[in-house]
Amino acid sequence: MTESMMIVNNLDELLYARRFLDRPLGLVPTMGYLHAGHISLIQQARQECNSVLVSIFVNPTQFGPNEDFTSYPRNTEGDLHLLEQAGVDLVWMPSPEVMYPPGYQTWVEVDNLTKPLEGSMRPGHFRGVTTVVAKLFNATRPDRAYFGQKDAQQAAVLRQMTRDLSYPLDIIVCPTLRETDGLAMSSRNTYLDAQQRQAAPVLYRALSAARADYEAGQRDAEGLRQKVKAVLAGEPQVSLQYISCADYDTLVELEQINARALLSLAAFVGKTRLIDNVVLG
Ligand code: PAJ
Repeated sequence: MTESMMIVNNLDELLYARRFLDRPLGLVPTMGYLHAGHISLIQQARQECNSVLVSIFVNPTQFGPNEDFTSYPRNTEGDLHLLEQAGVDLVWMPSPEVMYPPGYQTWVEVDNLTKPLEGSMRPGHFRGVTTVVAKLFNATRPDRAYFGQKDAQQAAVLRQMTRDLSYPLDIIVCPTLRETDGLAMSSRNTYLDAQQRQAAPVLYRALSAARADYEAGQRDAEGLRQKVKAVLAGEPQVSLQYISCADYDTLVELEQINARALLSLAAFVGKTRLIDNVVLG
């Protein structure tokens, strides 16, 4: 751990500052507007690594044309304060021009794992995620990189990319941090008005009800999907986009659950799109 937090915005500064970081180095990539979920990743990195690097970059290439890139919440000053308190050594805050200079034309794509779920609803999203994370890996050369189970498919895709491209680092997936009423913490929760905020915990209640069925012996995947739908049907402010019960590793939809499975959903609460999931087995 270095004495005070360094903040760098361009590649030369990053490469210089990187030399002062002890290994193992933990990287926590973020898009900022940090909440306790992000901080939990940083705390785990702090425990397991001798230095911690956090990136803040709202990555334009992972947002679709009708998504919230320009309105995505930003709070650099508040973020830096939280990072300092969390004992972060180095913050990498590149501008879009640093990450994607004029004429940029190189992309990283993971194939099958990006097709279902978020990939099918958000064309091009994972191409943006894998490209930016590959660039973060190349520029920072971490020993470990920390991601949240909240974005389960993202974690699976990045694990695949890391294996396929032979990055010499470990991907660590950390549990989803929730508000006391069960709502998964997310920067996008800030879009919810008071009524929507009250309705939103139904997402986790629905997933939990299906998980309870699973724990009571239900192994029929469609039965679990229907259970989630039934609970959500009681909340008019929520409209389900998809509910999936898929193999944990391949993300292929299941009929019967015989191994670890991922029960995941996306739903609109008003205009805000939220995702959540639980792991079965
Ligand atoms: P962002 O949404 O800022 O999330 C940064 C990291 O925090 C991700 O790994 C995400 O899964 C994790 N995270 C978010 N909410 C969480 C919660 N409630 N509990 C635990 N972890 C949580 O995900 C991204 O940014 C971007 O796609 C990124 C990987 C930075 C690439 O641009």
